[in-house]
Amino acid sequence: MTKIPVILDVDTGIDDALAILLTIDQPNLQLLGIACVYGNGPIEETYRNTRSIAKVLNIKVPISKGSAYPMINKILHSREVRSLKDFGTLKIDLDAEKHVMLASAMYVKLLGETIEPVTIIATGPLTNVAHVIQNHPELLPNIKAISFMGGSLSVGNITRFAEFNAYSDPEALNIVLNSNLPLTMAGLDITRSTLITSKDILKKVKTPNPTQKIFIDLIDFYTEKNKHKENLEGIQIHDSFAVMAVSKLEMFVGEMKPITVNISKDERRGEITVTSEAPNVFVLNTVTSKSMINVTVDSIHHLEVTP
Ligand code: RIB
Ligand code: CA
Repeated sequence: MTKIPVILDVDTGIDDALAILLTIDQPNLQLLGIACVYGNGPIEETYRNTRSIAKVLNIKVPISKGSAYPMINKILHSREVRSLKDFGTLKIDLDAEKHVMLASAMYVKLLGETIEPVTIIATGPLTNVAHVIQNHPELLPNIKAISFMGGSLSVGNITRFAEFNAYSDPEALNIVLNSNLPLTMAGLDITRSTLITSKDILKKVKTPNPTQKIFIDLIDFYTEKNKHKENLEGIQIHDSFAVMAVSKLEMFVGEMKPITVNISKDERRGEITVTSEAPNVFVLNTVTSKSMINVTVDSIHHLEVTP
């Protein structure tokens, strides 16, 4: 099978963690590296969480530290509900790092040396990706496409107009939208309705091994937080949609739309609208929740104990 080379760009919170697991579980994806960005928490936290998940999953690709703040505006952290500050059940002793790889250096290296053009799967604010597009135009031919979780054509989740990743750095999203690269958007319109609980996992994973238990416990921990903070019965797996749009696009119904983002400073900042221009983004419209839950359950079911 020809594998699709991908780079993940994450702001590891619980749904990014499940998206990382899902990525390495897809037989047709080859993960080249992971770039971290601020978002669900400060960069130190999202970087640490990503390294923790990578250690649990025995992921050996480069993990790099990216932007600590948006391109031009003040930083915004999520409403803690996805933040992993208290990554409750996961206390991983991380090895001290002799050298921290910067995301920009990782992108230049991986995109510079790749034979096959690479698909970027972005599940946080698009700040790192926008910097690559702006500062390294020579690398654009080596980017096959960008699949991103972000935006909403309906109600937002951080303001009533905007989704969190778009709102965190609309200038970055605007650069991506105007990059002429093939783009796929997994917005709240398709991601918000799929909720997963540990019950879904335990239907298939009858006797969890220690590695599976880490993910089951994390899902339980954040299900409890969601119940109180967002009145949700489970956790939303927003970021997994951006992964499956690359691995199995046939699961989805979508259409090309002319998308723009509001970069003003008014209350509609970060709002996504459909214009009358030429279509520039493949927007995912529908998928069966069952299929998204199934691929997530399978990714945990396939987990072996980490060596
Ligand atoms: O709005 C949801 C998005 O914001 C998800 O990617 C979540 O992880 C946060 O980054
Ligand atoms: Ca995310």
